[in-house]
Amino acid sequence: NSSVGFVGYRGMVGSVLMHRMQEEGDFAHLDPVFFSTSNAGGAAPAFADGAGTLKDAYDLDELAKLPIIVTAQGGDYTSAVHSKLRARGWDGLWMDAASTLRMNDNSIIVLDPVNRDVIDAGLASGTRDFVGGNCTVSCMLMGLGGLFSNGLVEWGTAMTYQAASGGGARHMRELLTQFGDINAHVSAELDDPASAILEIDRKVLAAQRGGLDATQFGVPLAGSLIPWIDADLGNGQSKEEWKAGVETNKILGTTEAGRVIMDGLCVRIGAMRSHSQALTLKLTEDIPVAEIEKLLAENNEWAKVVPNTKEATVDALTPVAASGTLDIPVGRIRKMEMGPNYISAFTVGDQLLWGAAEPLRRMLAIAQG
Ligand code: HSE
Repeated sequence: NSSVGFVGYRGMVGSVLMHRMQEEGDFAHLDPVFFSTSNAGGAAPAFADGAGTLKDAYDLDELAKLPIIVTAQGGDYTSAVHSKLRARGWDGLWMDAASTLRMNDNSIIVLDPVNRDVIDAGLASGTRDFVGGNCTVSCMLMGLGGLFSNGLVEWGTAMTYQAASGGGARHMRELLTQFGDINAHVSAELDDPASAILEIDRKVLAAQRGGLDATQFGVPLAGSLIPWIDADLGNGQSKEEWKAGVETNKILGTTEAGRVIMDGLCVRIGAMRSHSQALTLKLTEDIPVAEIEKLLAENNEWAKVVPNTKEATVDALTPVAASGTLDIPVGRIRKMEMGPNYISAFTVGDQLLWGAAEPLRRMLAIAQG
């Protein structure tokens, strides 16, 4: 058993990671050492036998003793600690899900059902930093890997519908509080079937524009949407949109000539969990829909093709259907009016699983052989 340091195991991504590791019995194959940024000396979590007390997550001497460190603490922690550890010669494996190291030449973005070859080559050649990809990109590649991995995509756009949880736990609470506050503003009218809907609508809008707490998102999300996610890069593109192109190609390990052009618009919606995206893909050839569906279904065991009917779509292709599962439903696949090489697709994935925790726990297993 190798010793593995865990940092940030109590946050949202960390909790999902711990839960999945317990579910899969991963702790039987490693000796965990838990670190905390706020509670050093406290008791380590009960699910890991004999893990003792929590160590200080900023104690470089303790961190440097470990051959593997897995952190879900976030980008600020990676920025604060990673380069200092490397500077003092630590050559262990660093695994996180933050964007800090993702585009470095000496890091690999891990999504093994799609890029196991890239991961294995990296391990063999001494790569030491393994980073989970952006949630939206990872979920897209899990759903549509059958087209991307086979080099069948010339370009694509992803128009996203991203859940509140992508922002964090406080964002989820804020959304629910907003829903409740809006309801409270009009609950008397809702109880009266004879009340005027336009009056209800006016009151809701007044609440949205006036009194809702929007500390986390900046503007109300409940009953609305926010067509911008992450930083403004100053060229009209959001950072989330930029990631789609650069990370897709890095994960796939495409050559400069084989680059897939990916771009789109990223939108926050009032879903709790699971990111959705509507794609338009230009394929490199005219492939029948049935063949496309076969490629997608065969690519990995989690991509689940949803027949392009109304009934199947509303049943299986929603955040409510996908949340809490490892399945990545992919549907709405049809040829578009633009021509035989253009297809639409819609995919949904629990971004806390395949978009964050799952690639990390699988990378940990791969690294341990
Ligand atoms: N950037 C994502 C979001 C978080 O805001 O939804 C997961 O990487």
